[in-house]
Amino acid sequence: MTQSEVEFFDNLAPRWDNDEIRSTPERINAVLDLLSIRKGDKVLDLGTGTGVLLPYLSERVGEEGEVTGVDLSEGMLSRAIEKYGNLGNVGFLRLDFEEENIPGEYDAVLLYSVFPHLHRPEATFGRLFERNVRPGGRVVVAFPSDERFINAIHEHRQSESGRLPSAPRLAELIRSWGYDADVAAYSEDIYVIIVSRPGR
Ligand SMILES: C[S@@+](CC[C@H](N)C(=O)[O-])C[C@H]1O[C@@H](n2cnc3c(N)ncnc32)[C@H](O)[C@@H]1O
Repeated sequence: MTQSEVEFFDNLAPRWDNDEIRSTPERINAVLDLLSIRKGDKVLDLGTGTGVLLPYLSERVGEEGEVTGVDLSEGMLSRAIEKYGNLGNVGFLRLDFEEENIPGEYDAVLLYSVFPHLHRPEATFGRLFERNVRPGGRVVVAFPSDERFINAIHEHRQSESGRLPSAPRLAELIRSWGYDADVAAYSEDIYVIIVSRPGR
């Protein structure tokens, strides 16, 4: 992330939870229902922001599981910690996951409303699969909308993010990098691509 992107999210942080109206419980649960997260799973939430997914993930993995929220924006991450730092199975890391390695292997690595912000998606997928995804685990690219909504927001906010392709096109691109990518849902309400690592 560039310094100006970090500042962009630091500035958005105080109003993120009010403005981000797409992440309703129904949409979040619809996304998470597709991921077959089980009790005891370890889940990495990359670009957790203010932690919208954290209470849902915490409940799904249960006491024996573990959820780690990662974000470089201190403004965003401090809100997540304020809201969910009390959950016993949730931890936090402040780092740039495209620059720094994350310790540990996970059953699921989520990129929820994050993919357009990646600078080097292919290299980042490579590192995640090499280091952080367990055999049988998966990386998930998801949004609580389709790409038209996301691209319109980014234009409106004049952010530095790239344009998000349709789910079938993005899955095709990810397959061209050598991964097994499937569109699990694609509608106006949810966009979910599951990239799996064989072996569970
Ligand atoms: C659009 S927000 C989404 C936040 C949250 N997932 C949600 O849906 O509410 C994207 C988040 O990803 C974070 N982010 C983007 N690229 C990152 C990177 N390379 N390392 C760490 N955090 C990153 C930003 O700081 C921001 O909080």
